[in-house]
Amino acid sequence: MNEWRASPSLEVFTNRVLELNILAQAAADLERGRPHHIALFGLRRIGKTLLCQEQMRHLAAQGRVIPVYMNLEGICTSPELFVQRYIGLTCFWAVAGGQGSVEPYLRAVDLLRTPAAGFPVALEAIHFLITELEREVIDPGALLHLAFDFPDRLAIALGRPIMCFLDEFPELSALAKFPQTGNPYKLFRSVMQQHAHVGYVVTGSAVTTMEQMVRDHESPLFLQLRAIELPPLTAEDTQDLTTKIIGQPLNPAAQAAVYAYTTGHPFYVTVVVERLRELASDEPEAISAEQVAQAFVLETLGARGEIYNYCRYLYDISLQKARGYAALKALLQILAEEEGLSLTEVARRMHRRPASVQDYLRWLIDVDLLVIREQRYFYRDAVLRYWIAYTSRGIETDGFPNTEDLKRLIADLGERFARASAQLGRAKESEVRELLRKLAGRTVPGPYLGQTDPISLPAFTRVESYRSPDGQIEIDALAENGERWAVEVKWRQKRVGLGELNQLITAAAGLQARAWCVSQTGFTPTALAFAAEKGILISDAPQFAALAKLAR
Ligand SMILES: Nc1ncnc2c1ncn2[C@@H]1O[C@H](COP(=O)(O)OP(=O)(O)O)[C@@H](O)[C@H]1O
Ligand SMILES: [Mg+2]
Repeated sequence: MNEWRASPSLEVFTNRVLELNILAQAAADLERGRPHHIALFGLRRIGKTLLCQEQMRHLAAQGRVIPVYMNLEGICTSPELFVQRYIGLTCFWAVAGGQGSVEPYLRAVDLLRTPAAGFPVALEAIHFLITELEREVIDPGALLHLAFDFPDRLAIALGRPIMCFLDEFPELSALAKFPQTGNPYKLFRSVMQQHAHVGYVVTGSAVTTMEQMVRDHESPLFLQLRAIELPPLTAEDTQDLTTKIIGQPLNPAAQAAVYAYTTGHPFYVTVVVERLRELASDEPEAISAEQVAQAFVLETLGARGEIYNYCRYLYDISLQKARGYAALKALLQILAEEEGLSLTEVARRMHRRPASVQDYLRWLIDVDLLVIREQRYFYRDAVLRYWIAYTSRGIETDGFPNTEDLKRLIADLGERFARASAQLGRAKESEVRELLRKLAGRTVPGPYLGQTDPISLPAFTRVESYRSPDGQIEIDALAENGERWAVEVKWRQKRVGLGELNQLITAAAGLQARAWCVSQTGFTPTALAFAAEKGILISDAPQFAALAKLAR
């Protein structure tokens, strides 16, 4: 865990330009003897460790500042273990450059046989450690002081400053449980303040805890660290990462679906897109939004899915320390079905008094599962919300769900990710405009547009969305070349009805245009009859896909 991971994601590392700049600036200031420190926080698997590794690679390549890395998760089990690892890992990185086996660096006695022992500061620290650890009663305060002070002393001896990456820093609080240890943060701060040759970058997945740590004036680390929150990737970055994994761009609708379901969380993006690559390895450009939905459902609800297992882990560790486990579960289920409820609304649904429900809600905020916005409660992570909604109903697919189940789950996705479907709709509209440009002047089979005879498309010279000057009429695509087509796109789970077609044909008549309606889920019987009567062109998802294939 504390070794240099030869990460396969090296070449897919995406963006984080802003954060890398901040880290580079901190390194430059450190070189000038003015260290300042950074707290990097963000949800689990949002990319904190990867960002640290990227910065470490830059530092290692430049050679002026020495990177030291350790993950505090797993080394804070006791003060004795912690101090040996802290000093050992500092040596492993600073002296051995993080190369070779980390094993000899993990225990004080073994450290004596490493190149680190060649440095008097290190040798002195190791001897002190060994002596202290042999005592009947150890002094954890003295040991921790020794450890925290060590990187600065080593940096002086090496003649180069150290940038020390302490991953999952809040784990340090586990040491407070041990007698006579005191508050490890306080100790860390008092030592760190004396350091002129070490810059610290601490990370934490416990977002709420980290925020309190750096922003609460009662916290020992108040104002000591500059807080940077790592956000999810933007739509553009998501596209960038997707393209790197697939090897070529997806079509706009499929790409919009990737972003919509994953909300740009890099781990989710990676998992879904890797799955997609397996599902459609031979023809990446033909990947549809439906296939993206399928990949997402399989990864999130399939018992062998990576997102499924991650959500399970997240759920379990978050609730692990909870009192009132059943009530918390019930509360999470309620909000999984319906977000944005107020305290009174939640309490009513739970048949409990608001005061008691409020304690639970606060607790769920503290462990980062929920957030509160304008007095209403929401999930922090939309994917976890989706997972809880289904698994709490006992739905999980075993990797090979039957096609009916899968179809239903995919259809339901649109409703679950409301924002997602709006984005999908917009992507589809631009896809339709693109299609009209490509098919301009060509003749296509009539059935693709709900007709019997082949249809010749005018050689459109201009295809744009349209909005009337008074704002009353909006058309998703208006194609012109003397002759005009007005196209309406409905990309959602509800069939198009008579009323909508009537609206379209009225708007089209006003523009002297031929009407075409594209609907993901088709048309109601009365709408079909109306279209036939009025000569409206209509296409559902498979017909539209057939047209798209012609345009390629
Ligand atoms: N900037 C990024 N570019 C590409 N992939 C990323 C990026 N950030 C995170 N990932 C993906 O997400 C996974 C989790 O990232 P990680 O750094 O381990 O998260 P954290 O340390 O915040 O828990 C990585 O293994 C990688 O697949
Ligand atoms: Mg990490």
